[in-house]
Amino acid sequence: MSRQGIPDYVCTFRKPGKNPDPIAGEFDHFAGEAFERTGNLSIDIWQRYASPVWMDIDQSNTLNARAARHESDTRHICPLQLDVIHRCLQLWSKEGDVVLSPFAGIGSEGHEALKLNRKFLGIELKESYFDEAAKNLRRVEQDQSRARLF
Ligand SMILES: C[S@@+](CC[C@H](N)C(=O)[O-])C[C@H]1O[C@@H](n2cnc3c(N)ncnc32)[C@H](O)[C@@H]1O
Repeated sequence: MSRQGIPDYVCTFRKPGKNPDPIAGEFDHFAGEAFERTGNLSIDIWQRYASPVWMDIDQSNTLNARAARHESDTRHICPLQLDVIHRCLQLWSKEGDVVLSPFAGIGSEGHEALKLNRKFLGIELKESYFDEAAKNLRRVEQDQSRARLF
């Protein structure tokens, strides 16, 4: 069988008017694979993120979904690549903002939100995925409080 790769799409929606609290400032780190700095770091990152197609996402960088699967499951979850979420948060949110995921799954959006010092609100239908999300988020909080010790 021959077939093309299956793309994911990021849909963005803008409220009309001016944002009274704009997102501004330099990019200080890159999310994705194989990034080579050539000059100004923030401009290098911006040029990669401004590309209409992101071919530099590490597809294997996801939270592990296996632990949340029930034997009786007929469908399985498809966790989003953490790099995609991370970029979106860098582009469209600030520290302290609340990130909402109405289909939270095992908490990938929350995982990246907490890592970037955002708050997170997630809604998930399936209890075992919700439990796994809570575990994943607790792990980030523990890592962060351990890092603050030093
Ligand atoms: C593709 S998964 C999201 C995965 C998530 N982005 C992650 O990486 O962990 C979609 C999730 O939406 C949940 N879901 C479906 N219908 C829902 C509903 N009406 N309310 C809340 N969650 C729902 C499913 O159980 C599933 O876990």
